[in-house]
Amino acid sequence: MRMTTIRRTALLGLLVLGVGVLAGCTKDGDEARQRQVEAQVQLAERAGVKVEKAADGKTTTEAPAASKSSAPAAGPAALGQKVATANGCIACHTIDGKASVGPTWKSLFEHDVELVSGGPVKADEAYLKESITNPNAKVVKGFAPNLMPATFGNSLKPDEIDQIIAYIKTLK
Ligand code: HEC
Repeated sequence: MRMTTIRRTALLGLLVLGVGVLAGCTKDGDEARQRQVEAQVQLAERAGVKVEKAADGKTTTEAPAASKSSAPAAGPAALGQKVATANGCIACHTIDGKASVGPTWKSLFEHDVELVSGGPVKADEAYLKESITNPNAKVVKGFAPNLMPATFGNSLKPDEIDQIIAYIKTLK
């Protein structure tokens, strides 16, 4: 039942997006950018993420439904893996180097990240924390803003954020 509703919302969102893309594509650069956003939105929806498209062209998302993980609990990194799975991060982030809806977490820590606003910036602990709690503050080049839910700063405990960061650090 719930999935059907999500699917319908997703389809509706896609339609709205399609119309928006058709109506909004006046310049070639715009068109390419819109296509990229559309592709990422489709990926997000396939991952079970509800994407809403506002009249001003901005997208907003809700985190996918929590799922249970069977990873053994031992140390902050293992806990972080559980927290990341339970909070749907893994629906949008891979750990194998492939970009998905969001950038891969593989080799992220301490590496340089190119941003939409320029860069590069070093992905240290402060950057990771900011990216989790305020994802639009620094948007990774090649990815759309407003796709990552901006709610994790409220829904995750500070400990849980530290655990996710400990986990990302292990993904060399
Ligand atoms: C709906 C998809 C989605 C979900 C769910 C999601 N993210 Fe993201 N995330 C993105 C996108 C898209 C970006 C790139 C745009 C940006 O920088 O905001 C991103 C960027 C990031 C970055 C910066 C990556 C880099 O290469 O610099 C981190 C760290 C991150 N997310 C962590 C998380 C964590 C932790 C969770 C779960 C608590 C999560 N994300 C859930 C889509 C998502």
